[in-house]
Amino acid sequence: MSVHKNVKKVTTHVLQNMKNDGEKISMLTGYDYTMARIIDSAGIDVILVGDSASNVMAGHETTLPITLDQMIYHASSVVRGVERALVVVDMPFGSYQGNSKEALSSAIKIMKESGGHSVKLEGGQEILESVTRILTAGIPVMGHLGLTPQSIYKFGTYVVRAKEEDEADRLISDAKALEEAGCFAIVLEKIPADLAARVAKELTIPIIGIGAGNGVDGQVLVVHDMLGINNEFNPRFLRKYNNLHEEMMGSFQRYIEDVKSGDFPNREEQY
Ligand code: KIV
Repeated sequence: MSVHKNVKKVTTHVLQNMKNDGEKISMLTGYDYTMARIIDSAGIDVILVGDSASNVMAGHETTLPITLDQMIYHASSVVRGVERALVVVDMPFGSYQGNSKEALSSAIKIMKESGGHSVKLEGGQEILESVTRILTAGIPVMGHLGLTPQSIYKFGTYVVRAKEEDEADRLISDAKALEEAGCFAIVLEKIPADLAARVAKELTIPIIGIGAGNGVDGQVLVVHDMLGINNEFNPRFLRKYNNLHEEMMGSFQRYIEDVKSGDFPNREEQY
């Protein structure tokens, strides 16, 4: 069901209407103009300029090294390619954890310099003051709970989170606190499907899952993963819609052969 397909611009209110009407929200990451243009033209609801750019675009092992200016560079490129989707920009590690004043100035810098429509922060009660302060400035905030990759050195691994009752209880109260503070949506990453479905049911705002099952209000994937560009990342939750790694490899190899053999360019391909 896609009743909001003809909406010209997706806003946070449109996303709330989607949840209210039982229409699932589609979300993908995007980091550059060309890809964002294709994703937006396909009709996606939300493009997340994820700090996963640190991994997929820059080759870092974690999301920690990417800077605020690098996120703004990616986000401004995405914004130039988007007409319809809501653009959410990840606040990178170190840009909001210090204190709420620093968080607000980072969020304002993102909004001013990238043209993005909203920001996303990882964490619950420990970042609530920052979330509230950013919201007070009129900047829409998306929460992110469960596996929060900026805390990878605290967790130690990327395994499923909140399997134990105490962590699950904490996640539910964090989600409720974020909703109460005024977040327009929350991403739940890599948690049991039953827990994610419970959060989606108990909260009124949209809950977007990645590795969180089908009982939530929408799904997000990293675009390079769902296109199968990266053939070394194969978690259970990932559905690959293409095998671009193989297709790209084949194209590059054919090009190299054609250049080496002198077959490219031919008469029609020259002036
Ligand atoms: O940075 C990112 O790509 C994300 C998604 C995994 C939700 O935060």
